[in-house]
Amino acid sequence: MAIQPKIDIELLVAELATLARISEAEPPVVTRVVFTEADLRARAYVKALYTDAGLQVSEDAIGNTFALWLGTEPGLAPIGTGSHIDAIPNAGSYDGTVGVLGGLEAIRSLQRAGFQPRRSIELVTFTAEEPTRFGIGCLGSRMMGHVLTPAAALALRDKQDNGLDELRSKAGFNGALESVAVTSGRFHQFVELHIEQGPLLENEGIDVGLVTAIAAPASLRISIEGEGGHAGGMLMPGRKDALTAAAELILALESAAKSTGAVDTVGTVGVCEVFPGAVNSIPSRVRLETDIRDTDRARRDSVLDALRKACAEVATRRAVTITTELVNADPPTNCDSEILASLEASAVDAGRTYKRMVARAYHDSSFVACIAPVAMLFIPCRGGVSHRPDEYASPEWIAGGVDVLARTLARLSS
Ligand code: GLV
Ligand code: MN
Ligand code: MN
Repeated sequence: MAIQPKIDIELLVAELATLARISEAEPPVVTRVVFTEADLRARAYVKALYTDAGLQVSEDAIGNTFALWLGTEPGLAPIGTGSHIDAIPNAGSYDGTVGVLGGLEAIRSLQRAGFQPRRSIELVTFTAEEPTRFGIGCLGSRMMGHVLTPAAALALRDKQDNGLDELRSKAGFNGALESVAVTSGRFHQFVELHIEQGPLLENEGIDVGLVTAIAAPASLRISIEGEGGHAGGMLMPGRKDALTAAAELILALESAAKSTGAVDTVGTVGVCEVFPGAVNSIPSRVRLETDIRDTDRARRDSVLDALRKACAEVATRRAVTITTELVNADPPTNCDSEILASLEASAVDAGRTYKRMVARAYHDSSFVACIAPVAMLFIPCRGGVSHRPDEYASPEWIAGGVDVLARTLARLSS
């Protein structure tokens, strides 16, 4: 007979609310940037919960945190689950945290039901899924999956010019960065629970999404060097305004993303830093950070190419200097059919409606996929809203996801 997880949804919702209050901003705004004081307090909070649940807690040199529920055959590679607890500025309470605290509740619900796993089940809290501090997403999982080398990680600096090494060491993580990458087979299989961050499940009234593929993200950093001067004294002809050049590039990206004709192509400029940033001064320097994604890698790359061409053309026409740096251009991830079959069987057992779908946001699972088979499980979030303080997932939606996750972990670990 299928295991019946005993989920304590009130406890989980209360824990999510407590975690949300550990923030650099006033509630309901959640801002929890990696290696800040809020991040460290949040880490301490979740680690205490892991220990209370009888899990063995360990951390690696970049702060990825592992909480192990030992199986009856501890020599076998574990089944992994988990997500992240860092949050971008002005975020909400559910992105990543549902996969972490929901993963914990899935484990506890199996413990309450008297289940004993054969393979260990390991809950992972990845460091810095969000690119806020170092400009590159999925730092911890990227390093685990050998996608970011220790040397490249050591070169990362935040906007205040603090190096990654110094920041991680202040946060208490000192081991050799070489030890973060793990070998294939470190996890037998990995499954991540996450909010959808899009509207489809809610619109269609479906309990859970079984994620078959994760879109391919890329980021191009653009620096524009023009010529500053007095906003009154300098006449319009002959100006080399870096911000008007940037404006052209922002619109060029929008048009390139729209011109593929595919709903899956998206392009965003989320950062625009203007120097010197004075109302009566012509901008001399602008730095843009762009985000381009698609489920189809070639189509995504065609947008990147169009943006690079626009940089060259605008630089010549406006006589400004434009340099670009490709921060990342990751491939799309295909999810594992065996884990998907387990998720589907678990959704049926749990009496939850489901559909197969793609993930348009990126996730730690994309990089875990370099070392283990992965799949993801989505739950609805209100209005598809995410990366905003009003992000919301109802207790019933969360309970549905935890129910299916718990049953899947039981299946995979048996
Ligand atoms: C992660 O939050 C992303 O930007 O997809
Ligand atoms: Mn996010
Ligand atoms: Mn996330």
